[in-house]
Amino acid sequence: MDLDALNKIANKMVETGKGILAADESSGTIKKRFDQINTESTETNRRDYREMLFRSDGMKHVSGVILFDETIWQKAADGTPLVKVIENAGAVPGIKVDEGTEAITGTSGELITKGLDGLSARLPKYYEAGARFAKWRAVIDPVAGRHSHTGILANAHALARYANLCQANNIVPIVEPEVLMDGDNDIDACYAVTQWVLKETFQQLYYMNVPLEGIVLKPNMIIPGKKSGKKAGIAQIAERTVKCLKSCVPTAVPGIAFLSGGQSDEEATAHLSAMNALGNLPWKLTFSYGRALQHPAIMAWAGKPENVKRAQTVFTHRAKMNGLATKGAYKSEMERELAA
Ligand code: 13P
Repeated sequence: MDLDALNKIANKMVETGKGILAADESSGTIKKRFDQINTESTETNRRDYREMLFRSDGMKHVSGVILFDETIWQKAADGTPLVKVIENAGAVPGIKVDEGTEAITGTSGELITKGLDGLSARLPKYYEAGARFAKWRAVIDPVAGRHSHTGILANAHALARYANLCQANNIVPIVEPEVLMDGDNDIDACYAVTQWVLKETFQQLYYMNVPLEGIVLKPNMIIPGKKSGKKAGIAQIAERTVKCLKSCVPTAVPGIAFLSGGQSDEEATAHLSAMNALGNLPWKLTFSYGRALQHPAIMAWAGKPENVKRAQTVFTHRAKMNGLATKGAYKSEMERELAA
């Protein structure tokens, strides 16, 4: 393991002014997104959609792109490997290596992430293809009765095993323990469960000898569940998220890149900006958004070649707003720039 090289990549991924584009939707998830725009999810359409994003000006605000296995081997319409298109735009290619989740037998539906079997053989191939970081998503439900020590420990242990294997192959692991934001729990439950999950995750990373200088953490924000009907203000979400992270995340971690988890695009930007505006943070705080970066762009594209320019403009605007949020400099009035 070359920790110096890992640390350099991790720092590049969380560089101020930029963030990570999560474009690693599995075949099932991208089909759902394409269904919304009445577009068939063919290999070519998936390629065209992602190539459109990777060739947009928005890449100026993108430090890294998380790819799905299919995409890392794909070529752009002109024959250039998509990995090269990403590198040419100044971003680091990354790869989702988990294989989704399954229920843990004997629990109340808790999930464990699959993909450790064979991972040590897959990682060198991804490195060869250009991947310099990877992603593994663990999922925890914060609703009372739907999480336990069993599920939290099993997921933290799997994250640590994955991180250890990535680093051995000089690939920076994005460690993503996602506490879901769509349940009927309040903000306190989100806080308490996220704290528990992060504490366990860092304990397991320590036991597995994972140097924290060579990882990026990808957590949820502290938010009341969507189905709770409760709303929290931007300032409250920012303060509680930073408080939770400060109590759990060692300062050796170079940066934290949030998932958006079903927040609207503008909410996700406003929350990140408010956190950075608090100042006095021991790590970089940035974005690693899927839906919150792509939703307006995919809607503008609607699967039609004649919409590519507009969709790229929409994507670039979103990426720029999030880039400003990494400096705490985003204002909701800036959304008007796009209409202009
Ligand atoms: P969202 O931002 O849509 O939650 O996706 C980020 C991600 O990569 C989840 O694993």
